[in-house]
Amino acid sequence: MAEKAPALPTLLWISHGSAEYAAAVTLRRALLRWPLGLDFTPAELAAEAVEQHLGLFQEGELWGTLVLRPLSGASWQMRQVAVAGERQGFGWGRLLVREGECRALALGGARLVLHARETVVAFYEKLGYQAYGDPFEEVTLIHRAMSKELVQPALIDMPSDSAE
Ligand SMILES: CC(C)(COP(=O)(O)OP(=O)(O)OC[C@H]1O[C@@H](n2cnc3c(N)ncnc32)[C@H](O)[C@@H]1OP(=O)(O)O)[C@@H](O)C(=O)NCCC(=O)NCCS
Repeated sequence: MAEKAPALPTLLWISHGSAEYAAAVTLRRALLRWPLGLDFTPAELAAEAVEQHLGLFQEGELWGTLVLRPLSGASWQMRQVAVAGERQGFGWGRLLVREGECRALALGGARLVLHARETVVAFYEKLGYQAYGDPFEEVTLIHRAMSKELVQPALIDMPSDSAE
């Protein structure tokens, strides 16, 4: 009998405080905080209640995540982009960022900003983000501010019905 093909991973917008959110915090902690000798404070996690949380899941396992924070006006901040080590390099980071952009647009956003670690500036450049301003330190690492103006996907002109 033929083996069952593995299910494709699925993007899911998750609720703050849910089991999926807990899995996302665990992944973010392991990738973005513990290697720096840091952790999230309860206040930081509580403040995330107003943010949008995205997860990429495959059969219940979290492969990647990101967070969108509403700023003033039509700006959103993309934060905490992380893909599990063994899943990196397969396009999942790009997929997460693209879905984040679509979500921000759908919520009325027109601009995404982010703080990129120096080691991943080239990743965001590939996705259309531009660095601005001087490098600065955050969570012990040098970062660059980056931004991207969001553009609605062009509507496709459909030919009108013809009576001919
Ligand atoms: C940065 C990260 C999210 C990228 O996710 P990923 O799934 O590995 O990236 P993708 O496979 O989608 O890569 C998309 C493209 O960016 C490139 N890329 C990925 N990481 C890169 C990096 N660090 N530097 C330069 N290019 C990079 C890939 O080669 C690919 O290019 P291609 O289209 O020419 O093939 C992931 O490596 C990660 O979680 N890193 C640890 C956490 C971290 O540093 N997060 C960012 C905090 S600001």
